[in-house]
Amino acid sequence: MLSVTALIPAAGLGTRMVPATKETPKEMLPVPFEDDGGLAFKPFIQLVYESLYAAGVRTFVIVVGRGKRILQDHFVVDWGLHETLVRKGKTREAAWLERFYSMLENSTIIWVDQPEPRGLGDAVLRGLKAVNTPHVLIHLGDILLHSPRHNPVRDLLSTLGCSECPGTIGLIRVEDPRSYGVAIPGDPVGCGASGSVAGLFRVRGLVEKPREPPSSYAITGVYLLPSRSLEEALASTERNPSTGELELTDALQLLAGRTGLCGAIVEGVSYLDIGRPERYLETIRMLAGDRC
Ligand code: G1P
Repeated sequence: MLSVTALIPAAGLGTRMVPATKETPKEMLPVPFEDDGGLAFKPFIQLVYESLYAAGVRTFVIVVGRGKRILQDHFVVDWGLHETLVRKGKTREAAWLERFYSMLENSTIIWVDQPEPRGLGDAVLRGLKAVNTPHVLIHLGDILLHSPRHNPVRDLLSTLGCSECPGTIGLIRVEDPRSYGVAIPGDPVGCGASGSVAGLFRVRGLVEKPREPPSSYAITGVYLLPSRSLEEALASTERNPSTGELELTDALQLLAGRTGLCGAIVEGVSYLDIGRPERYLETIRMLAGDRC
């Protein structure tokens, strides 16, 4: 079995998606999928979980905050609902649940609380206490690198065999990276490229939401990192003085100086994001394909 734990931070307040997220966690927003010739919807977080499962991950730590219990409930197998569907002759719907349940029954999911919204770094630091594998695959709960041909998470995991990369950050080129964390590229790295990972470089620096971006390499929100070194870096990172939040990007900047980090350039994928209204709409369009 793959000795990597996935850590999914899903504790954000979803303020950019209000009013939809007043009571519903952003990660529960529905997105379309098509299977067995039928159109249906599933919560975005299920899509994230399934893509990690398909990459071979079986241990998950999901960080949630207050008012997000419904997220946890969604990941509890409910054979009663399945039975009701079968009794009513809704075999396609029952089959969709069966598929989800069989993955759940093969997974270990640990839920961790972040009581106050004190930043992505704070959520990750809390989640890391429940991680006991040498590497952690951090995957934000509101984004997904989606590709019909590749599994980008599996491609990132294959950089584990690359001794030049103690940790790898998934990057994607965007026209305007000001609303992302941005990586400053250093020397190219000669290993680790496969499938949707087109190439790697040593990270020279990282900056969160810069007014003047130093490059077009945006941090996607998928990171493969050494668990204990990351924990140490987060513990010695100062909180942002104006927001009081602990930024993951600041800790990664520290880690890049300490152990070195690689940037993996991901290409040929759709970058799904439900954190902002325009991007959520775009995500629905991309997943609905010809139906939209
Ligand atoms: C977070 C990260 C940022 C990254 C982005 C990807 O920002 O801090 O570095 O580029 O996710 O979605 P957020 O969108 O949560 O503000």
